[in-house]
Formats: sequence, structure tokens, C-alpha cells
Amino acid sequence: MATLIRWLGHASMYLETAGFKVLIDPFLTDNPAATLTAEKAQADFILVSHGHGDHIGDTVAIAQRTGAMVVCNYEISEWLRAKGVQNVHGQQHGGSFAHAFGRVKFTLAFHGSMLPDGANGGNPCGFLIYLRDGKKIYHAADTGLFGDMKLIGQEGIDLAILPIGDNYTMGPDDALRAVQFIQPKKALPIHYNTWPLIEQDAQDWANRVQRETHTHPVVLKPGESLEL
Ligand code: NI
Ligand code: MN
Repeated sequence: MATLIRWLGHASMYLETAGFKVLIDPFLTDNPAATLTAEKAQADFILVSHGHGDHIGDTVAIAQRTGAMVVCNYEISEWLRAKGVQNVHGQQHGGSFAHAFGRVKFTLAFHGSMLPDGANGGNPCGFLIYLRDGKKIYHAADTGLFGDMKLIGQEGIDLAILPIGDNYTMGPDDALRAVQFIQPKKALPIHYNTWPLIEQDAQDWANRVQRETHTHPVVLKPGESLEL
């Protein structure tokens, strides 16, 4: 069965795969682009890329209500435990684990990870998700461009989810170079237009990807989905 991938706005994603519901970076409350409320979010798993408020977002409330397992770095997993979230699974860069919905490997991300209360959120990461049907998703999360994206591309990526907003992450030019490094079958831009500071023309970026690479760009509006 195909995997459904929905953009919830900003960097928040919702996946339905192999019968499981997976949220990534569920920042819904106070997210001007969000198409779902934290109260209505469903999840069996929640992946958190780093500690910033626009990524850890509503993780505590959703995990407590749904009982979803939170997959994140070790430091954030300990912070969540202290907040009363018991169902956590800590990993670190380069390490993978076969969760019920698919294997998840933590990748590098060049960024920060301080938690909203100032606690140390360890190192930020991206995710390489090996779906159970063999397809692979690379979710770069918040990062600048780095050359080792070529190594990630060697895995054979079906979908790359890339920030294009600039200022805090890659902008459109570097995200285009990321596509050239990764050579995914499809690329989905995120982390733009949430606020004026990260306004970008995603269609213009997609046109460049179409012209200059062999990757098929997919531009979604918040709330829209693609199938893989
Ligand atoms: Ni961030
Ligand atoms: Mn961010």
C-alpha cells in the first residue's frame, strides 16, 4: 500500500505508512500555516528533529494524549521524560533502528537544537526513513547545505523533503544544490512562507529543479498530500 505524506505547514509532516500514523515535528499551535490542531492530531509515532519551538511544537501534549512513541535524539528524549512523556526512543547521528513503521536513521543537520526552556537539546538531525515497502524518504529538517548529502543520495532516495526558506536553513539556491547532491526521484520544499522572514517562491524553485535536475519537484499547499 502506498504511503501518504501530508504537509501540515512549516516543517510539520504527517505520514500514513504500513498501517501506522507518523508525525514529524508537530508544530501546530501558534503555527500560522498549520492546517490541523494539536487536539485533533493522531499519531503512533512522533519524530522530532531538534529542540526549537517550531519543531518540538506540540510534541508533549500530543504524545501524552495519544501515547505515541517519540523518536528523537537522546538529550531531547531525557527532556521529554522529565516532562512526563515516558514512551520515548533516543537515537543519534548515523544510528538506525527498525521501528514498527519502518527503519529510521538519524542524519547530520547543521543547525541548533536548544529547547524552548533553554535546556540543551543535543545535536539537530535529519531523518532517513526506510519504509517497509522499500521506498526511502530523506527529511533534511532544518539544515544548511552540506557535502555529505551526496552520501545520503547514494542510498537511492525516492523523496527528499528540503527546507527552502533561507535565513535559518538552506535557501532556494542551496536547496537546488542539495537536490543535485541527493538526486532523489522527487523533492518537496518545506520551511518557507510561515512568516515574512522565510518567504520564498516555491513554484519558481520547482521550475529550476525541473529544468536543471532529473528530480521531479512536488509543491504542496499546507494540508495537501502526495503518495509514494
Ligand atoms: Ni530550527
Ligand atoms: Mn525551524
